[in-house]
Amino acid sequence: MLKYQTYYYQEVTSTNSVLKEKIRFGNASEGTVILAEYQTSGRGRGKNRWESEPGKNLLVSILFFPGIMAGRFFLLNEFISLAIVDAISGFGIDACVKWPNDVYLKDKKVAGLLIENSITSQEITQCIAGIGLNLNQRNFPAEIPNPVSLIHHLDRETERQQFLDILLDKLNQRYGQLKAEKYSGLNTEYNTRLYKLGEQISYFTKDTALQSGILKEVSEDGKINIQTGQSEKQFLFGEIELIL
Ligand code: BTN
Repeated sequence: MLKYQTYYYQEVTSTNSVLKEKIRFGNASEGTVILAEYQTSGRGRGKNRWESEPGKNLLVSILFFPGIMAGRFFLLNEFISLAIVDAISGFGIDACVKWPNDVYLKDKKVAGLLIENSITSQEITQCIAGIGLNLNQRNFPAEIPNPVSLIHHLDRETERQQFLDILLDKLNQRYGQLKAEKYSGLNTEYNTRLYKLGEQISYFTKDTALQSGILKEVSEDGKINIQTGQSEKQFLFGEIELIL
């Protein structure tokens, strides 16, 4: 059972960066939570930024010491994504996971996940789980592709602290599943909740033009499995761009 310790900030560069600093100065134990009203340099995956109106949404980073083998890195993504889905479900809304690191409500993105791991001797010793989740923001800049907030589905504001408490509880439960080595269970549930599972999707790879195929599954090692004609191909993220 994790014991959480929460630090609250009005404004930070990035909650992930603040947590990294705390770790660097040696005062961050497992379960440290960094929560902010606003980020001046919110980071997304790759070169993306994460934009969020001040005070409207959940911007949080949580520290885990998973101690799993580096090759199992995608299980971190799975347990955290599933905990987000669980928390949203508690509000009566059906959410799904979009490979590799998003949570969707119908066809729109409600949450993104930025996981930053430290590996020692082939083991993931430390995992910073940064979660950006749109709660109460109604309008988004035009350049953000397909955003949505809980408020668009609930028609009322969600109290951030209440949502965070539920999310931390769900994270605890899902982390328990990981620590108990219920790896295939996590992977099965991830696939059950997978956006576009069994549907036709289009994609690019670095050396192919636009292709299409059926999304079959995401494997425990984080590869997406796509069936094209008689053959099935597997891709790691970075190797493929999905057009959904
Ligand atoms: C993505 O969709 O590419 C991931 C977005 C992750 C955003 C969150 S907000 C809290 C934490 N701090 C950051 O700078 N990024 C993550």
